[in-house]
Amino acid sequence: MAVTYLLEYMEQNKTAAYFSLLADKIIFNPDEKGVWNKLNRNIPNSKRRRSYPAVKVGRLAVNENYSGQGLGTFILDNIKYAFSNVKRLGCRFITVDALKTAVPFYERNGFQCITESDKDEETRLMFFDLKNFITE
Ligand SMILES: CC(C)(COP(=O)(O)OP(=O)(O)OC[C@H]1O[C@@H](n2cnc3c(N)ncnc32)[C@H](O)[C@@H]1OP(=O)(O)O)[C@@H](O)C(=O)NCCC(=O)NCCS
Repeated sequence: MAVTYLLEYMEQNKTAAYFSLLADKIIFNPDEKGVWNKLNRNIPNSKRRRSYPAVKVGRLAVNENYSGQGLGTFILDNIKYAFSNVKRLGCRFITVDALKTAVPFYERNGFQCITESDKDEETRLMFFDLKNFITE
């Protein structure tokens, strides 16, 4: 189940952007040990698990009239902040099934592809380690 948020530009009575969030988890796949090593890189041995809770960005779109002005980045920064410093929910990663065309945008925002196995698909599974965003 997802919750969708709208960013309204009240003066112009327009929706500037929307995004949705849903609970997710990343589960250990024994066929992709390299992936797991990448995810575990910043996690001490005593805290490593076979799955990690995550929050998934289900949809994210910026109105064409407002694209390229940092709004997408602003939204991702707010999600990162809400789930790291403010601790809205105990989770370690943000995940997204990124449209191939949007992969560079997510990379610019610190996300990495989880696996190479989806490199020829329409969407790529990407993650962001919230540990990288904690400023306290
Ligand atoms: C992808 C999207 C959300 C980006 O939103 P935005 O507000 O335009 O992005 P920003 O202005 O924050 O851009 C941040 C950086 O990413 C880059 N970027 C944004 N979209 C990009 C794209 N499609 N390809 C390559 N780079 C991109 C920007 O050039 C900018 O780089 P800079 O920091 O060097 O200036 C928006 O273009 C969109 O809604 N696209 C259509 C829907 C979509 O693809 N959503 C993602 C589905 S998972």
